[in-house]
Amino acid sequence: MRYFSKVNDLGDLHQALQEALEIKKDRFKYVELGKNKTLLMVFFNSSLRTRLSTQKAAMNLGMNVIVLDVNQGAWKLETERGVVMDGDKSEHLLEAIPVMGCYCDVIGVRSFAGLKDRDYDYAETVFNQFVQYSGRPVFAMETATVHPLQAFADLITIEEYKEVKRPKVVLTWAPHPKALPQAVPNSFAEWMNAADVDFVITHPKGYELDPAFVGDATVEYDQKKALTGADFVYAKNWSCPGVTNLAEYGQVLSKDMGWTIDEEHMSWTNDAHFMHCLPVRRNMIVTDNVIEGPRSLVIPEAANREISATVVLKRILEKL
Ligand code: CP
Repeated sequence: MRYFSKVNDLGDLHQALQEALEIKKDRFKYVELGKNKTLLMVFFNSSLRTRLSTQKAAMNLGMNVIVLDVNQGAWKLETERGVVMDGDKSEHLLEAIPVMGCYCDVIGVRSFAGLKDRDYDYAETVFNQFVQYSGRPVFAMETATVHPLQAFADLITIEEYKEVKRPKVVLTWAPHPKALPQAVPNSFAEWMNAADVDFVITHPKGYELDPAFVGDATVEYDQKKALTGADFVYAKNWSCPGVTNLAEYGQVLSKDMGWTIDEEHMSWTNDAHFMHCLPVRRNMIVTDNVIEGPRSLVIPEAANREISATVVLKRILEKL
């Protein structure tokens, strides 16, 4: 595997899941694979889980790791072509990327959506520049529109905790004070469509996700109806994807606290497990009691980020 941003990049998903469970039993099994290989992790945005879990995964595989926080200590980067660089940006990404490629064997990129220009964000402009100009295998550590390492970890978690063969998994929008990207719900939808689950998405009108990610999922605007009988409740906020009205792209259309996942919402489910990728705004997205309750999986999900990243890096190293 040379690039990783989509579920199809992994090939057979069942096989990838089995590999993840095997690695979880012995996460240092492939420690020789990354000897004298260097991972460069490039962060344009903040991170706790992705930074730590991906670094740990690289260490599991015997790799060296360099972390670059673009906004702390590096030259301020211009990302648009054709700009007269007479402002505060000293270096263009189109030189910086091949230079980064000189010092490593694999590159992970975190670069969030700007939420101003839908076409620019959904073209994955920054990630694709790394693909085009770095000369190295590149994987997404949450880009403008996808967060596949999170979705893979979520799928591993569902596989581990499911109590029926084909569980009902509900992705529900929940309120948040700020505009957030659609990367997590997009990837979660993409991966659930590829998995053997009964998948339902629920959100207020106007929050329709891009049809390429919604795929065959059932979209139910009535949150109570959607949550009824759920085995897993995956809560997440996202800003307007601009599908039904492009002018609203990236905006907060609703802060309706009636969508916050509390004990009453969970009572409609089939004693569902609660999931969220973290970080989470308590008592906006989910109440203290639910996230701290016995059915909450937020910590196992975070733990599985190490496993999903180990599988992905292993597969990239195998093809170097
Ligand atoms: N879930 C997730 O990607 O967490 P971070 O933003 O802290 O990396």
